[in-house]
Amino acid sequence: MDENIDVLLSETRSFPPPDAFARDAHINTDAIYRLADKDYEAYWASAAGSLEWMAPWKTVLEWTPPHSKWFVGGKLNVSANCVDRHIRTPNRNKAAIIWEGENGDRRTLTYWDLYREVQQFANVLKGLGVQKGDRVGIYLPLIPECAVAMLACARIGAIHSVVFGGFSPDSLRDRMNDAEAKVLITADGGYRRGQVVPLKRNVDKALVEAPTVKHVVVVQRRQGGFSDLFTEMKPGRDAWYHELMATAKADCPPAAMDAEDVLFILYTSGTTGKPKGIVHTTGGYLTGAATSTKIVFDLKDSDVFWCTADVGWITGHTYLVYGPLANGATCVMYEGAPDWPQRNRFWEICERHGVTILYTAPTAIRAFMKWGDEHPAKHDLSRLRLLGSVGEPINPEAWMWYHEHIGGKRCPIVDTWWQTETGSIVISPLPGLTATKPGSGTKALPGYFAELLDSTAVRIPVGGGLLALTKPWPSMLRTIWNDDARYVQTYFTKWNNRPDIYFPGDGAKRDDDQYFWILGRVDDVLNVAGHRIGTMEVESALVEHHAVAEAAVVGKTHEVKGQAIAAFVTLREGFTQSAALRDELKKFVANKIGALARPDDILFSADLPKTRSGKIMRRLLRDIAEGRALGDTTTLADPGVVSALKSQYEEKEG
Ligand code: WTA
Repeated sequence: MDENIDVLLSETRSFPPPDAFARDAHINTDAIYRLADKDYEAYWASAAGSLEWMAPWKTVLEWTPPHSKWFVGGKLNVSANCVDRHIRTPNRNKAAIIWEGENGDRRTLTYWDLYREVQQFANVLKGLGVQKGDRVGIYLPLIPECAVAMLACARIGAIHSVVFGGFSPDSLRDRMNDAEAKVLITADGGYRRGQVVPLKRNVDKALVEAPTVKHVVVVQRRQGGFSDLFTEMKPGRDAWYHELMATAKADCPPAAMDAEDVLFILYTSGTTGKPKGIVHTTGGYLTGAATSTKIVFDLKDSDVFWCTADVGWITGHTYLVYGPLANGATCVMYEGAPDWPQRNRFWEICERHGVTILYTAPTAIRAFMKWGDEHPAKHDLSRLRLLGSVGEPINPEAWMWYHEHIGGKRCPIVDTWWQTETGSIVISPLPGLTATKPGSGTKALPGYFAELLDSTAVRIPVGGGLLALTKPWPSMLRTIWNDDARYVQTYFTKWNNRPDIYFPGDGAKRDDDQYFWILGRVDDVLNVAGHRIGTMEVESALVEHHAVAEAAVVGKTHEVKGQAIAAFVTLREGFTQSAALRDELKKFVANKIGALARPDDILFSADLPKTRSGKIMRRLLRDIAEGRALGDTTTLADPGVVSALKSQYEEKEG
């Protein structure tokens, strides 16, 4: 089958790094790419050398496709690298985590604070019988205890599995059962949009059918607690975090972990089937996390780094906890929603803490655009020097808005492509070196090898095709927990003749400068009259229209064309839907990228269905467009959105 993808959109704007930024950047020459291309094992060995090892590795890489081992024989401890190293320097009392609760609570933990709390909590875990290799679940609001708990696990060699606090009791139960977790760390509640999320109550429900969990540690999120939210602490099973910590000693030496020991499992729900427990190990993961944080974000000692992701996602693991702390950085952590209590909350936080690097997601950026320019305009954002984007393709218009209204036209933007499975950023500009183009992640970082291939693994120099990673990298997943066959099947069987090539599942195009443009999941690609079209290009054309805030397009069976294009469109504040606007948008897309991509159907919608991490769920939109019964909606952030859309669509069709 021909899996090449037609290329429609052409984006010609280009932004070289500002001179002043480039001058001071960690990386401002391309020597590093040449070095890494010449000998990637040597490159990664030198990167790993910037960590603190308890015993040196013997072999950099053992690669028996599709299984890799990095820094074989080496011993290290992740918590010692993220905490202990810094308390031996003048950074000992530097802020590690500046935290803000949604309700206005504030706390700052220095590296010294972390050093003590992590050791105390490691002792608490030991006291509960947790041993090396045991699994510990973490189901918390975004509070500093997330980092403390993760690092405490790492300190004693326990494997953590963080479950996002927005997941239901059933999702939590399934993950705890798959991981066979022994202990679960939670809180009485957490704040989200002014409401209290009853985490402990969810835990009580989940654990009815999760028999491996023997102990639950409960953080009191608010002074005095949310005792009204759940009935009881179950004797013998449940204990308060603050009570256990009160008597825990603050000395717990870091365990010497093998580089290939498992650091964590993180569940990711693919498009189908049960969630996959993505397995990351110690030495390779930390090397990828620490190095990419430093070079992609040009991280300096003086920076205030705010990654807005929750630790329930890989972005929170790598760029809110492990990467920045391994570099001794100051991180901002914010518990709540971007529009609570007002739509300027993010900008207020940036101003209050003097944030210098902001890393967020396109879904948030599009929401900010929709809410209007006046919210960021009220705040002093002049400390910002670098912006990042992750999670979905960023449409060029959203990129431009981010550049102008948040970055004041002076901050480079790093559009970073990666996955839970890759552990760290794979494709991204280096902000002091790479000229950026709105909507393009540009190139693979040094030490990562990305290609565009056709279905027979032939390289496509320019055009559209399948994204592929052709060599192993240190922070790659090692397997799927309890299901190695699924690991092989999911990631290494796309090209029969090349069982050593990793298939991420994304389509992309490559332009004349060899830049990558991610076009979306291959499962979502449209096929209109024999042309395979990435969802991202049609969506980006729609978003370029001044009335449109967000768009999702899907294919719908069509007798003649194979597929027709159905577009779901959210309007910016101040615009109203009309038949005239619908026609205008169809024409607009046809003019912009060609008649082929002209949407057959446009449905206006106040919201689009998204996963809890903010990705548009096109699968459900396809069900709606095809008039099918809705598939699995359990991973949706707001299930109400699809049922509303469905009845709207049926009305229109009927
Ligand atoms: C998508 C998030 C375009 C992509 C770190 C990938 C992106 C999936 C980008 C992984 C980007 C992530 N441009 N698409 N900059 N970043 N994606 O596992 O489809 O939550 O395969 O990891 O998100 O999502 P995950």
